[in-house]
Order: sequence, then structure tokens, then C-alpha cells
Amino acid sequence: MLNLTTHHRTHTCGELSHADINKEVTLCGWVQRVRDKGGMLWIDVRDRYGVIQIVLEESSTEINCMQNAKSLGREYVIKVTGVVKERMSKNPKMKTGDIEIIPTTIEVLNPSQVPPFTIEDNTDGGDNLRMKYRYLDIRRNPVKHNLEFRHNVSHQIRNYMDEQNFVEVETPVLIKSTPEGARDFIVPSRVNPGEFYALPQSPQTFKQLLMVAGLDRYYQIVKCFRDEDLRADRQPEFTQLDCEMSFVTQQDILQTFSGLVKHLFKNIKGIEISEIPLMTYQEAMHSYGSDKPDLRFDMKLVDLTTQLKGKGFLVFDSAEWIGGICAKGCAIYTRKQIDELIEFVKKPQIGAGGLVYVRYNSDGTVKSSVDKFYTEDELKKVTELFKAAPGDLLLILCGKEKHTRKCLNELRLEMGNRLGLRKSDEYKPVWIIDFPLLEWNEEEKRFYAMHHPFTSPKTEDIPLLDSQPEKVRAIAHDLVINGTEIGGGSIRIHQKELQEKIFHVLGFTKEEANEKFGFLMNAFEFGAPPHGGIAFGFDRWVALLCGSETIRDFIAFPKNNAGRDVMIDSPSPLPDVQLKELGISIQKNNT
Ligand code: AMO
Repeated sequence: MLNLTTHHRTHTCGELSHADINKEVTLCGWVQRVRDKGGMLWIDVRDRYGVIQIVLEESSTEINCMQNAKSLGREYVIKVTGVVKERMSKNPKMKTGDIEIIPTTIEVLNPSQVPPFTIEDNTDGGDNLRMKYRYLDIRRNPVKHNLEFRHNVSHQIRNYMDEQNFVEVETPVLIKSTPEGARDFIVPSRVNPGEFYALPQSPQTFKQLLMVAGLDRYYQIVKCFRDEDLRADRQPEFTQLDCEMSFVTQQDILQTFSGLVKHLFKNIKGIEISEIPLMTYQEAMHSYGSDKPDLRFDMKLVDLTTQLKGKGFLVFDSAEWIGGICAKGCAIYTRKQIDELIEFVKKPQIGAGGLVYVRYNSDGTVKSSVDKFYTEDELKKVTELFKAAPGDLLLILCGKEKHTRKCLNELRLEMGNRLGLRKSDEYKPVWIIDFPLLEWNEEEKRFYAMHHPFTSPKTEDIPLLDSQPEKVRAIAHDLVINGTEIGGGSIRIHQKELQEKIFHVLGFTKEEANEKFGFLMNAFEFGAPPHGGIAFGFDRWVALLCGSETIRDFIAFPKNNAGRDVMIDSPSPLPDVQLKELGISIQKNNT
């Protein structure tokens, strides 16, 4: 057994049991609570490993010890020496509930102010307060357990990567912009006035250089920085499990990292994951309206355009595309429930114009919100397209195809939630492949790389780069689990000419490409091996394995929704001298 004895303590608060009765022990910890009932006094002491009860009796405890005990407040740090005794009334809810300590000395190692919230599993502290005093929040079991859980996941990852012969290499943090699609955080250089470092959005270019360097298999659990809007699954600084391999095809990468997925589920959750299916981007968008489909439930999108257009219902007749989903057993939804769904799709974040419904009643009749325009027979045909059964409810949206499919995806997920189909203990991983290489930005009238500019096009699509760049598919892969993108990667371009060509398609001049990425293209001239890889959102992995979507709960010191660390009060202004030293002048707004 692990021995955690130190010069301060003989045992930890959670490890003592019946077997230790009559032993003299010294324990250290924080005062969880003190109960003073006149002649008797109980103190619960807590450390990382658990809580134990100390009992003092006026008649038998030394005066000095009693006086110290009476002065204690919540969260005082104390050192207690005493003897382990069997409890008269046992507490089965406590791990150490069979025993208690009869103290001979109690020493206050450090007093504490009254904590601003209770340090209990269910605390009375609001989010902001707990963030401000995060070090107190971490004393609470749920937060502490999340951090221990995170540690276990990283430990398992390291085990697996090590077994697969990956070498962990640290890459620099003060670098030059990496194009991952978000804004960079920048750091001014004092010794090079007017020049800036960028913090890495990922170690992408460095891991490719490590392949040129011949390291063959690299990984790193690494901090990345992206200046983008925060969400439950996004933090401005987050951690990636970043990986790269040489002399591999996409199949090799998927096989290696399917192995990691299986290893983590087995060792962390005790769940055996079978073969992870592949789905093309096109199929994902077609059937689910999303490249992150939640496969815990079916409810695929059905195209109704031909069936419903041209029957005199102007909204449908003028729409580019009509489609819907079938909610099993929901024909009994009340008007109020349907109105809630209409409100849902009309929310600005979703952006649908409205919603048409068709009830396939359990008596076999079909009723819809557009009965005026469609005969019952026509609507019956629609139910057949969904393979619907009596009792089902069809929910139909229309508009521009791409947008409507996206809206249907949101509605599908909402229905999945309402029907309890998105179970937190069920896991459905899928590899999404064959992404488009490029994405057209209508505002800027230019192409952007869908993953990043180092992603290789499929060999057979390379001839389309000049004529139909939007049709070119990438050798890219995303790992999606339960509707969350856990990781993404690709086979990389390893030849200078092709890389130059992609920069050209992305609208970089030769000079710009050289200025930004010359170091990589130069390296490609020194024998770059074919290579590829993937990076996983480590915080997302941890949250997912714990059945949560909020990564903040698994980060020791996270930022709030405004990107602030309210504990250390950052970001914060700099003193003028420091700004001057950095050659930065800030225009102060006096209004
Ligand atoms: P990508 O940009 O897809 O790829 O990032 C990889 C994974 O990182 C996670 N992630 C985030 N997690 C928390 N907060 C964020 N702000 C955030 N942004 C991304 C996601 C995502 O799947 N260099 C490439 C990888 C490669 O090609 O090998 C890259 O960074 O889970």
C-alpha cells in the first residue's frame, strides 16, 4: 500500500479504519465542521483523501487541547495527534464512519477566514464566487474528483502512446501565427521593438517539422491558445493531445487512434468499443445536417422537396428545399408543445422561418398544419417517406438547402434531448472523412482551408484544384463522439510544389506564403517523408468520458465566459512604464 507518511503526519484522513483501532496517529487537514454540545465537541477534519471525526470530552480531554479545539473555525488547518477508537454510533455514510480519534494534542497550523461559500459537495456558492476562490472550490469533492479524473485520462493516454512508440516532444510557445482559423493571442517582444510573437493555436507546423526531422511518431499533451468566442466546449486556452506519424496512410492513422479510443473507454469507463464506423462528410450533412452527427439516435433527415412542392402552399413552393424529421411517438404532442418547437426553430441562433407539422395519429388518420393544401393521401405518402408509424410526429422545415439542413440538425438534437435519446452513459464514436478541402467565404470572396492549409487533397481530386476547387476533397478525418468533435487531423502535403499551389488557391501571393510559411516549405526540400496526424481536444475527451459537455469543470483554473480569470483578475492593464518598454502606446478614451 502507498505510504503517505511525512514529517507532519503518520496517516491521511481517509485511510484509517477498524484495523487501526488503538493506534496512535497524527493527522493534518482542514476543519470541515465543529459541533460543540456543551461537554462534548466533535471536529470533522478533511484532507484530499477523506474526512475523519475527532471527539473531545470536557471531563477527559486535556485543558490545553480543549481550548485549542474551541478556538477552531471552518477551514483552519490543524494537526491532531490522538488514538483511534471504535465509534459508539457508527456512520455508514462515511468511509471512516466506524472509528474516531480521541486527541491528545491539537495544533493550529494556520487559521482561516470564514470561507465565502460552504466547502461541501453541494455548495451555496454561485459560479462567480467559486471562480474567484477557485482554490477553495477545488477543496470540494466534485471539483477535486474532476481534476483527479483528468489526471487518470492523461495517464492512460501516455500509457497507450508510449506502448505505440510515440515520443513526447515539447514545442515552443512563443511562435509565429499558425493558421487554425481563430485569431492569435500575441506577445510583444521587448528586445525586438514593434515585433510580436504569437501563441500557438496548435503545434501544427512544429509537429510536421519533427516528421522531417525523422522522429517518426510524435505526441504532446499541450496548451493551445485561440482568441475566439467562448462556449461550453471552448476555452481560449485549452489542451490538445497532438499527434503526428510518418510513412502512414489515413487508414493507419484511423487504426492507431481507434486503438486509443478503445483503450480509453476500456481503461477509464470499463466499456468495450467495437469497430468505429466511417462516414463521409457528404453522408453526414445529408442524413444529419451536421458534420458532427450524434449517432446515439436515428431520426435522419428526409428530403421532401419533390413530394411537397407545387401544391399551392406558397411557403413550400418558393423554397429551394423542404425536409423533415420524424419524432417517434410524438403525435400526442399538445398545441403548447408544438408551439415550443416553433419558438425553438425561430430563435435567432437557429434561424428557421417557421415549422410545419404532420401528426400520424394512432388511429391511422393524418392531420397537419397545412391540411388546406394537401390531401390526406398526399400526407400519407409523406409519412411513408419517413417510414413513420401511427403515433409519430413529422416536423418539416423549408428554405435554402444548406441552412435548412442545419436547422433540422438543431431540431433533431432538441428532439433527442426531449425524448431522452441522448443518454450520457452511451457512446457512439464515428470517423467523419472526405471533408471538402476548401470553404468559400462569400463576404471575402475567397476560399479558406476547411481544416488548415497543410491538409492534403485526395490524389484523384488534385486536377480539380484549378477548375472546381470547391469539389476537391481532403484526406482529412474528424473523430466525433455523441455529436462532439473530439479530434481532427489529416494526411499532410509533403511536397513543396503542391503546398505552394494550395497557398495560391487560398489567395496568398508567393511572397506572403514565403514570409509566413517559408520555413516549412524550405524543410520540405530536405527530404520530408509522407506524414499525417491528428489532434484531440483533451479537455473535451475528459468531459465526455465523465458524461459532461462543460470543459470548464475539468480545468483547474478556467476562464469565465468573458475570457477572464476572475481569481487573478486577468487580463488587466499594464503600467505605463511597462508599455513604454514594449514600445506600445495605448489610445486612452477620455469620454
Ligand atoms: P483542430 O483545430 O480541429 O485541429 O483542433 C483539434 C481539436 O482541438 C479541440 N479544440 C478545442 N477545445 C477546447 N477549446 C477550444 N477553443 C478548442 N478548439 C479546438 C477540438 C478539436 O477537434 N492542428 C490541427 C490538428 C491536426 O491537423 O493534426 C488542429 O488543431 O476537440
